[in-house]
Amino acid sequence: MLDDYRYHHSLCVAKEAVRLVKKYGGDEQKAYIAGILHDILKNTPLSDQLHWIKKSGIIFDSIQLASPPIWHGFAASAFIKEELQIADEDILLAVRYHTTGRAGMTHLEKIIYMADMTSADRSYKDVDAMRKKVNKNLDEALLDSLKFSVSSLAKKGLPIPYDTIMAYNELCVAKREESN
Ligand SMILES: [Fe+2]
Ligand SMILES: [Fe+2]
Repeated sequence: MLDDYRYHHSLCVAKEAVRLVKKYGGDEQKAYIAGILHDILKNTPLSDQLHWIKKSGIIFDSIQLASPPIWHGFAASAFIKEELQIADEDILLAVRYHTTGRAGMTHLEKIIYMADMTSADRSYKDVDAMRKKVNKNLDEALLDSLKFSVSSLAKKGLPIPYDTIMAYNELCVAKREESN
């Protein structure tokens, strides 16, 4: 279902997710499965992604509808539940929210979100700084990633999904409370 680039990326994310679980705890097998499946519908036409979203009963708000790049995570969680019979909530949530994040992210959701940012195939400008950060503190790295996501969407004049803003706010407030 994936082109070579995306398949390689998925293998790298699975590997990075297992590495992060070894460091921060959690279930290695779940991390590998969520990592390898997180982008399974990334190369699937948007109309088919929307089909899976609707079929699973998810009702998108207007911001989610106006943000097609986030659809593949929501669609993939519905797809792997039905087609691959994956019933594990941890895996389904990690796949579902790997692009947007959300308030109250589970440990595995954080692991997959960050593995997607720091996998070996990634080559964006500050990736090395982000890799250092994720090796120091998972929540701080996640907050930085969300900060980057919020600001780059705003800079491009794109809408910011509610889940992303709430994830950012939650970690931001927690950090401020910690330092007070
Ligand atoms: Fe993705
Ligand atoms: Fe990805």
